[in-house]
Amino acid sequence: MKATDLKKKYLKFFESKKHKIIESAPLIPEHDPTVLFTTAGMHPLVPFLMGQKHPLGKRLADVQKCLRTQDIDEVGDETHTTFFEMLGNWSLGDYFKKEAIEWSFEFLTGDKWLNLPLDRLAVTCFKGDKDAPKDEEAAAVWKELGVPEERIAFLGKEDNWWGPAGETGPCGPDTEMFYWVSDEKPPKKFDPSDKRWVEIWNDVFMQYNKTGPGKFEPLEQKNVDTGLGTERVAMVLQGKKNIFEIEVFEPIIKKIEEISKQKVNDLNSKSFRVIADHMKAATFILGDERGVPPSNLDQGYILRRYIRRSLRHLRLLGVELSSVDLTVEISKVVIKIYEKDYPILKKKQDFIFTELKREENKFQKTLDKGLKEFEKIAKRGKDMSSQEAFLLYQSYGFPIEMIEELAEEKKLKVDVKGFNKEYEKHQALSRKGAEQKFKGGLSEASEITTKLHTATHLLNEALRKVISPDIKQRGSNITTERLRFDFNFDRKLTNEEKKAVEDEINRVIDEGLEIKKEEMSPDDAIKKGAQAEFGAKYPPKVSVYSVKGYSMEICMGPHVKNTKELGHFKIKKEESSAAGIRRIKAVLEE
Ligand code: SER
Repeated sequence: MKATDLKKKYLKFFESKKHKIIESAPLIPEHDPTVLFTTAGMHPLVPFLMGQKHPLGKRLADVQKCLRTQDIDEVGDETHTTFFEMLGNWSLGDYFKKEAIEWSFEFLTGDKWLNLPLDRLAVTCFKGDKDAPKDEEAAAVWKELGVPEERIAFLGKEDNWWGPAGETGPCGPDTEMFYWVSDEKPPKKFDPSDKRWVEIWNDVFMQYNKTGPGKFEPLEQKNVDTGLGTERVAMVLQGKKNIFEIEVFEPIIKKIEEISKQKVNDLNSKSFRVIADHMKAATFILGDERGVPPSNLDQGYILRRYIRRSLRHLRLLGVELSSVDLTVEISKVVIKIYEKDYPILKKKQDFIFTELKREENKFQKTLDKGLKEFEKIAKRGKDMSSQEAFLLYQSYGFPIEMIEELAEEKKLKVDVKGFNKEYEKHQALSRKGAEQKFKGGLSEASEITTKLHTATHLLNEALRKVISPDIKQRGSNITTERLRFDFNFDRKLTNEEKKAVEDEINRVIDEGLEIKKEEMSPDDAIKKGAQAEFGAKYPPKVSVYSVKGYSMEICMGPHVKNTKELGHFKIKKEESSAAGIRRIKAVLEE
């Protein structure tokens, strides 16, 4: 069964269990300051797991594109990739353990569905600790379905607990399903540390809210959050032991064979796999609904790292970089694999190719020189100083992680701490957004971002009222520090205009207008005058948020209840973002 058919089958199964199918959220989240990329299907659903009502009801299922950069060092083995598609089904305070497990079991083993032999399945459940009891309830359901006792293992929080993403938030025990991939007969007793048991599915039972270190309170709304890795399950169904052999990778590997004029083998497979995974990730970041170009910050930095690391591994395979635009050639293959399921890739392909070409040409000029410089440094056989690392970064564009990787290959260390100090001296902004998690925890972060989100709606409307009725939102991004709003307009705003926009927004804030939420079809919403996202594909029923008598937008929320909660609105910056597009950064002051 191909990955595409697996996705269809999964959604059909959960539709038959009365789930509504939702679209994949973008890979780059809009309102979540705790992560750079969507790392699981549950991520975009956090507000609903916390109790907000979802317009499509209490049972949802989807295929979510995910990126887990924290797994980047594992890429090279048989089953790890950083980009993957996660199948998921959710209960928002509806069904719980029994149904979730029964349906997972039915989908995996039912002859109408995946028809996997029970003999090759095993599960883990939470073993209990001071925060929560042993999950006997989940284990009992598995037993009743016919899973033998010796195929059920109990493990602690490191393995069988999920969330919260930040310091606080919804979380709970989970039960994980494993499949025996070896040709040998599966052992009677399940040993979770045996790598021939591959994890394929995770059912999380969100029954707690973590309110602080070691503090777990029962959640009023008990949720189910499941995640099934499409590529891994497709691999299992195709009887393969290597994920890179399935059809969503194989053509990429073939292309790299063609470019490098060699067959993949045990010695070079790491480079092949790194390039295949990274170029897929890069194509999806560039081709995301909120796609960004390579840069030295946040998502743009991760993207740069993906592209540059791919180029270095192409070099390791002996490929001359000066020939054609190799990254574009590989990206074309990625788009071909996914264009049916993600039409946006094709729509954005000019942007994808232009940016890849630019980045490749830039790095190609310095990669070989930088490698020579590195060899000189490495020859001394001494660990690398921060200045040497910084030279490779600044003069040759080597991402620090790549410098570490090169050094490690020579069994040398790099003074990364010193490098970071050096870097900060040269740059006000931080390099590694991935590690700047918000310290205040999820709930405080969500309070700040919720306010900025409502302020964004006010800004959207105020620009139309004060500046021009033709203005439309072209992008938005919120962190705990500020809001950012892009809109179509062909010149700089004057100081008077900026002041007028601020005054207008602060007037509305002072009026103390209520925010109301309604549900309706997207057509009705637009007829009523709601703002809609440019080119968005909406489900049959959407939430519409209005600031009473002022503005109206199709939006997932969340928002504050009354504008008077917002504080004082201030524009910090107004600049050009692209041709015909202006960008405002603004904050709320106490
Ligand atoms: N959030 C869980 C996971 O990522 C289940 O979806 O595994």
